Amino acid sequence: MTAEYKVVGDVAVITLANPPVNGLGFATRVGITDGLDKANADDAVKSIVITGAGKAFSGGADIKEFGTPKAAQEPNLGSVILALEASQKPIVAAIHSVVMGGGLELALGCHYRVVAPGTSVALPEVKLGLLPGAGGTQRLPRVLGVETALNMIVSGEAVKSDVLASLHGQKLFDKLSASAETVLDEAIDFAKKVAGTKPEDLPLVRNLPSRHPNGEAYFAFARNMVQGMSKNYPAPVKCLEAVRASTTMKFDAGIAEERRLFTELMLSPESSALRHLFMAERAASKVPDVEADTPQRQIKMVGVIGAGTMGGGISMNFLNAGIPVKILEMKQEALDRGIATIRKNYEAQVKKGKLKQEKYDERMALLSTTLDYADLKDADLIIEAVFEELGVKEKVFTQLDEIAKPGAILASNTSTLDVDKIAAFTKRPQDVVGMHFFSPANVMKLLEVVRGAKTGKDVLATVMALAKKIKKTAVVSGVCDGFIGNRMIEQYSRQAGFLLDEGATPQQVDRAVEKFGFAMGPFRMGDLAGNDIGWAIRKRRATERADMKYSRTADKLCELGRFGQKTGAGWYDYAPGKRDAIPSPVVLELIEKHRKDEGIVPRKISDEEIVQRLVYSLVNEGAHILEDGIASKSGDIDMVYLTGYGFPLWRGGPMHYANEVGLYNVAESMKRFAKNPRDDGEFWKPAPLLQKLVAEGKKFS
Ligand code: 3HC
Ligand code: NAI
Repeated sequence: MTAEYKVVGDVAVITLANPPVNGLGFATRVGITDGLDKANADDAVKSIVITGAGKAFSGGADIKEFGTPKAAQEPNLGSVILALEASQKPIVAAIHSVVMGGGLELALGCHYRVVAPGTSVALPEVKLGLLPGAGGTQRLPRVLGVETALNMIVSGEAVKSDVLASLHGQKLFDKLSASAETVLDEAIDFAKKVAGTKPEDLPLVRNLPSRHPNGEAYFAFARNMVQGMSKNYPAPVKCLEAVRASTTMKFDAGIAEERRLFTELMLSPESSALRHLFMAERAASKVPDVEADTPQRQIKMVGVIGAGTMGGGISMNFLNAGIPVKILEMKQEALDRGIATIRKNYEAQVKKGKLKQEKYDERMALLSTTLDYADLKDADLIIEAVFEELGVKEKVFTQLDEIAKPGAILASNTSTLDVDKIAAFTKRPQDVVGMHFFSPANVMKLLEVVRGAKTGKDVLATVMALAKKIKKTAVVSGVCDGFIGNRMIEQYSRQAGFLLDEGATPQQVDRAVEKFGFAMGPFRMGDLAGNDIGWAIRKRRATERADMKYSRTADKLCELGRFGQKTGAGWYDYAPGKRDAIPSPVVLELIEKHRKDEGIVPRKISDEEIVQRLVYSLVNEGAHILEDGIASKSGDIDMVYLTGYGFPLWRGGPMHYANEVGLYNVAESMKRFAKNPRDDGEFWKPAPLLQKLVAEGKKFS
């Protein structure tokens, strides 16, 4: 039972006790109804208080229970709320910290609500691709008014209790307590005062009206707005329809309509993807063999080596979090350039009103520079972001080993080099870890934390916690070429090249993938990142892995100096100072000539084939990555792609998407692609893990 019951004087107190956030799972729901039965059967009890233990009143329905039989098992949340409403004795909710989703719906089923100041109040179901499914769309408009309720439900954003209490009178909250500490006592006092109210006089939110003076016109306007803002997501419009039902239908019919819409959304692929994302994001922060209580090192000061593209952005993350940073460079001019870029970035934010001048000043005051390694002797974490050459990294890490204090974490931002080799340049490989930020490092959410063979568990625990502090989504990767993200993108890029060989154009490929939902197709992305990066990798591969075949189109493009936006021309043409990709006749000619040289007769390729070949090339490499133990769970791979590579959020990442399509279907498509006469039988060999899961009828989990 995850709700506690006790009697204080003549008040029964039911305390939700399902850590971490009192999710309203089956056992908790049973705990509530059992408590209600006891309280109503006990003559000594005159009134009832419901509250939550720990750090929340309630975070809502238990998300972990979704999709299991327990989610719908009676008493479901709707039935619990009916039981509250039917109570013969007054019920007061004592609300503090967090009241969200089903938690708020539960509170709205109580007769009275006492709330602590500073409580986060929200119906955030829309963020999970859902709508409030236990009366929230019917009851919230009755206490807040239609417009405020609709805003809260469609945005899912939390509003502080004090703001709601001051703006919207006493219908949502009957009392604002003096503090979170006193809310329970004040609710008990409140319960004593209302004890003895006749059952028929107990106030129920369902009995209040839900009206809008210009209902149809308002909802038509709101629908247009919401539709425009949520084109790939069905939930926001359904939220609106449910709230509208509160104004056009009787209460119980509105509840039935809400349930119908909720059920539709629960079965939608978008909600499945968003729920997966919620869980995967939290799971990514946990490393299977690193216990939650692993001691962490204190990070009070950070050193950054290199003030280039990455060093500057990396530094800004720590400054934003209030952590002092000292940047080291080889020359003063390089430092000056780096600092000027940081200033420019912050000033742009100030100009746009996104950052206050005082905050900007505070952040810059935390930043210092040096040309001398000895000045980094007090740093708790030193992140290297110098040129991508092992020899340069060796010089840096050898010096760091000499000056860094014992216990300092030494991190490399390398994107391709072997972190174990870098660790071996020091006598303290246990302190060395990869921190692979993505460009622009002050903006991109993803941080791949690269775990070397000897990286200490406390180092990992520290870096994962620090990532949260600087608002990054950290995913642990083992050491391999490209880590998780770039190892997969290499296969995707190879496949994109083969598509050009066979008959597609860069714009057709980009359009197909962007229609699927990627922020950018592979060729526009190449132009943005610089086609020379891939060129360098392919040259290296020619000696290291001669068996790996590529289309020659990208090399031919680079031979023309078309590196992308930075050279004003790449797969596309660019007008000076502009980023719009203009189809290039030079490139089309280059591709056609290439096909002739190779004796390829081009064919028409469908958008569907393009998308499948590109996405499944990610999936197959993802399966290898799981098998090799580079990623510990498929959700981690999804997080990498969702936060670092522009994979559409509503599709949940490549591995989740493959699960939704069905791994059998994915494998069948791959077999079909392998029959392509241009395929040498290598690319589409299914990863053994994929084969195994298909044979067992399982999914990536
Ligand atoms: N059910 C189960 N577990 C939940 C949960 C929920 N509703 N909400 C959060 N948790 C868990 C998280 O999975 C995490 O677990 P972990 O420690 O094992 O990783 C833990 O609580 C802490 O979560 P956060 O890391 O997010 O902690 P924060 O303190 O930053 O935030 C929070 C707490 C504000 C409650 C945030 O977790 C949140 O926004 N949760 C989602 C709330 C939500 O969407 N509720 C609606 C659920 S759907 C619903 O109610 C349907 C109903 O209308 C029928
Ligand atoms: P950059 O060329 O913009 O900056 C490198 C800086 O390091 C230069 O300012 C240089 O003066 C300085 N430097 C070189 N050797 C040094 C030394 N011995 N001591 C002190 N400073 C030194 O390079 P960028 O793009 O910032 O890349 C840095 C690292 O980050 C590389 O390892 C790269 O692979 C990695 N990376 C780059 C990404 C990108 O998109 N640019 C993305 C993720 C990682």
